[in-house]
Amino acid sequence: MSLDDEEKFYGDAKNYWEGITPTVDGMLGGFAKISPTDINGSHAFLRPLLVIGGGKTEMTRALDCGAGIGRITKRLLLPIFKTVDMVELNQKFLDEARSFIGEESSRVDNLFCSGLQNFTPEPGSYDVIWTQWVLGHLTDEHLLNFLKRCQLGLAKNGIVILKENISGQEREFDELDSSYTRTRAELDKVISMSGLKILKCEKQKGFPKGLYDVYMYALQ
Ligand SMILES: C[S@@+](CC[C@H](N)C(=O)[O-])C[C@H]1O[C@@H](n2cnc3c(N)ncnc32)[C@H](O)[C@@H]1O
Repeated sequence: MSLDDEEKFYGDAKNYWEGITPTVDGMLGGFAKISPTDINGSHAFLRPLLVIGGGKTEMTRALDCGAGIGRITKRLLLPIFKTVDMVELNQKFLDEARSFIGEESSRVDNLFCSGLQNFTPEPGSYDVIWTQWVLGHLTDEHLLNFLKRCQLGLAKNGIVILKENISGQEREFDELDSSYTRTRAELDKVISMSGLKILKCEKQKGFPKGLYDVYMYALQ
């Protein structure tokens, strides 16, 4: 991708998200109703990897990437982890986050306003780095480098979770929000290049027909 194309790719996404209302419906493109199914699926996927579920991953500190207003922080991460940090491109969403999350937002330590392409998780810090419905906003090169920085950001026995839409035959580009939907083969390739290993990979069940398949990956 040329520098001009890259500028347009990121600029268009930024403009799109700036025009979106800071609500769960806004985060999910009008599909707020799938949020409980999504959170339940995430919980079931994550729990066996955690110490409470018989796994090795501690529950001290998590990072929510492309966090929006904190839908995942509120419903999935704060009920499990002592503290959560959020990183999000759009300041307007972060401005809404504490009131959306409510009382428990006192355990959200840091709200970082940054694109993931420019963000480095604090090395050795996080038990879980959660990335969901945001990696399509990164170029291939930035995605690879971001995954490498995530690996360095993990605490002992920490894991990176990817939860993303997957396309069938080839990647698709969405002009509306300026994002890619990658194939499984493409995701598997970038994961392998990053040096992260796939501990577990599952398809989210129970979403309405007509949506993309959604896969969850646990990486270390
Ligand atoms: C589809 S929403 C998902 C929000 C959240 N992960 C969830 O599942 O509720 C995508 C989010 O990614 C943010 N975003 C877009 N491009 C980004 C980038 N390059 N770096 C970080 N966040 C980005 C948007 O502002 C938006 O909040």
